[in-house]
Amino acid sequence: MQTRPALVFDDAFITGVDEIDDQHRNLINLTNEAALAFAGSPPPNQVRQLVQELLSYAIYHFRTEEALMRQYGYREADDSAAESHIRCHRDFAARVVSVQEALQRRECVDSAALVDYLVDWITHHILGTDQELAAFIRQRRAGHGAPPSATRASPDG
Ligand SMILES: [Fe+2]
Repeated sequence: MQTRPALVFDDAFITGVDEIDDQHRNLINLTNEAALAFAGSPPPNQVRQLVQELLSYAIYHFRTEEALMRQYGYREADDSAAESHIRCHRDFAARVVSVQEALQRRECVDSAALVDYLVDWITHHILGTDQELAAFIRQRRAGHGAPPSATRASPDG
């Protein structure tokens, strides 16, 4: 039985962009909840629900980050970084969608492998790609470089 969380939000995860950090905490909590539930071999409908919650929240979070990219002109400043960051988000969503589809077809899913993937992806993405974006946003917020556009970042923007 699992006794410790799959992921711990430690200082290395702090990006200094509050809305990103808050959402990362939520994403990590959802991952830990799913990991804990999977360890107890839950019924298929609960597995589907946990994966759906994670997927929905991840997509909401990616929209927030991508809205911040637009607000602060990330693509204009570094097109390849913006491009590869967005591609990472799409790859993650596609992977989790494929798990969700397998669950809907009533196929067996290796939940331990899924948790390993989530933990590995989230850890590397936050420590690498998101820290890079956050450094850019912090710089822009500190008044360096082009001023942000008037539009506020929102997941729908
Ligand atoms: Fe990201």
